[in-house]
Amino acid sequence: MRFIGNKERLIDWINSEILNNNITGELFFDFFSGTANVGKYFKQRDYQIVSSDLLYFSYVLQKAYIENNEYPTFENLLPKLNVNSNKLITDNFDLVLQYLNNLVGIEGFIYKNYTPNNEQKRMYFIPENGKKIDAIRTQIEKWYNDKLIKENEYYILLASLIESVPFFANILGVFAAYKKDWDKRALKPFELKRINLLQSKKEHFVYNQNSMELLNKYEYDIIYLDPPYNQRQYAPNYHLLETIAKYDNPAIKGISGMRNYDKQKSDFCNREKALKELENIVKSKNYNYLLLSYNNEGIMPQEEIIKILEKSGEVILKEYDYLRFKSNNNGEASKKKFIKEQLYILKKNNS
Ligand SMILES: C[S@@+](CC[C@H](N)C(=O)[O-])C[C@H]1O[C@@H](n2cnc3c(N)ncnc32)[C@H](O)[C@@H]1O
Repeated sequence: MRFIGNKERLIDWINSEILNNNITGELFFDFFSGTANVGKYFKQRDYQIVSSDLLYFSYVLQKAYIENNEYPTFENLLPKLNVNSNKLITDNFDLVLQYLNNLVGIEGFIYKNYTPNNEQKRMYFIPENGKKIDAIRTQIEKWYNDKLIKENEYYILLASLIESVPFFANILGVFAAYKKDWDKRALKPFELKRINLLQSKKEHFVYNQNSMELLNKYEYDIIYLDPPYNQRQYAPNYHLLETIAKYDNPAIKGISGMRNYDKQKSDFCNREKALKELENIVKSKNYNYLLLSYNNEGIMPQEEIIKILEKSGEVILKEYDYLRFKSNNNGEASKKKFIKEQLYILKKNNS
């Protein structure tokens, strides 16, 4: 998924630094989970994962990819659906996706508020796709309430929906605004895509809360920090994914139909508070290694970060030149720019 700060393309480098610096352990805390990509990567490398994020749609992804270890059978649901006649599809997950993809659209919250069919004429989705998303989201909830799908199946279907929506959204990467003309991608008929699940023999734990509250809950070997780099909060940029995940008919306002996000504001988007929180994490007792992903343009200055980390052990800073496309605020074409991605490693004194 396209997500600001997504570590998908840096994760191999991060892992190579873990190996080069002899960082070992079993329990890995993905403190700022986002897309869950980091947790997914280390789950596949046999770590036990704890992860959390303030965003509910991130929690949905974590439930499906991190906590869930099973392949969904949909054993209670399939006998109730008339889908087995299709001999071309034999996989149960595919059968359920096909059923959902064939639903007749309904005029629900997404259609009413995020297609040009509303007073504001918001252009996030074409009307047909808005109706399709409503029909699929409503059906998943009904199956769960009727106990036709199990909890893991519920989150797997929701995660499939969350992963599919951006491919049909008329946006430039984030949901804070929609495009004024229809992008080609938004005109295609909506289709729910299958997600790839990860199996593991370990139990994993995922949360939708401020990760500071989880610091003392487990004995972590590695805490991985990937905080926001600047003042921009995540919740308003992804408000529509949040609303589709929750489907809670929120009060919305403004040109983009934003939901309230007062309870999802991160202290890491403020320089002073971020440094204070970092200090609190570093001072906490239950970990051996702390890894911090940051970059040379972040709001916490390098000297301050190092000063805080050094109080608790040996600090190593690794840097990686990363080509990033940066669109500037004037709406001019995006510019190529090299950013120094950084990985701070703290080996705590007792580790
Ligand atoms: C840079 S992104 C993480 C990206 C992630 N590593 C990935 O690869 O997708 C930062 C994330 O931290 C979350 N966040 C910010 N403050 C938080 C807090 N105090 N507790 C939990 N999550 C927080 C944001 O919602 C956002 O999803």
